[in-house]
Amino acid sequence: MRILFATSNTNKISEAAEILVPLGHSVEGLLIDGNRPIFNEPKELGLEAVTESKVEQALALIKGTEFEGAAVLVEDSGVFTHAFEGWPGANSADVVEKIGLDGVLERISKSKNRGGEYRAVVILSDGKNNWKAVGVCKGKFSVEKRGINGFGYDPIFIPEEGDGRTFAEMKSSEKSSISHRGVAIKSLSRLLSDPSR
Ligand code: IMP
Repeated sequence: MRILFATSNTNKISEAAEILVPLGHSVEGLLIDGNRPIFNEPKELGLEAVTESKVEQALALIKGTEFEGAAVLVEDSGVFTHAFEGWPGANSADVVEKIGLDGVLERISKSKNRGGEYRAVVILSDGKNNWKAVGVCKGKFSVEKRGINGFGYDPIFIPEEGDGRTFAEMKSSEKSSISHRGVAIKSLSRLLSDPSR
C-alpha cells in the first residue's frame, strides 16, 4: 500500500517507515505544493479527536491531486505525567517549546512521582476504509537529560521495557520496538493484514 504520512515531523515518518516498509508498504511524507501540511488540531478534545479531525483534513487535501487513491496516515501523540494529572498531554509540543525540557524536569522534581507514559493514536485511511490503533509506552522521567537521538521528550523519558536508558540514548530501531508509536503502528499493520477487515 502507498502510505502518505501527513505530519511535519520527519522523525515520525522514519519511525513509521521502519515498521511498515519491511511489510511491503511504501511510506512517504505528504507534501502539498512542496510543503508539509499544517492541521487545525482541537487539542482540548484529546488525542483521538485530534487524529480523527486530521484524517478528514488530510483526505480533503489530497482530493483531486495526484495523491488521490493513496492511503493517508495521521497520528497524534503526547507525553502524560502521573504526578500532574496527565500534564502536558495533548499540549506536549507547545509545553516543550515554551519551557524546554529543563522546565519540564523542574516541575516534575516537585513531586516524588516521576512516572509517566507516552500515548499515540494513529489512523490510516484509503478514503473508503479507516484503520485506527493506539499505543502506550509506560516509563518514568529521568533526573537529567541524557542522549542525543530521537526528538521531543526522548532525552528525559526512560521506558519501562528498556534497560534504564532514555529513548534518546537508544537507536531508532530499539525505540520503535517498544515506543507508543511503534506499538500503535504495529497493531495498525496487523489490522491491514487481517482479511476480515
Ligand atoms: P504532535 O506532533 O501534535 O502529535 O505533538 C506531539 C508532541 O508530543 C511532540 O511534539 C513531542 O513533544 C511529544 N512526543 C510525542 N511522541 C514523542 C516521541 O516519540 N518522543 C518524544 N516526544 C514525543
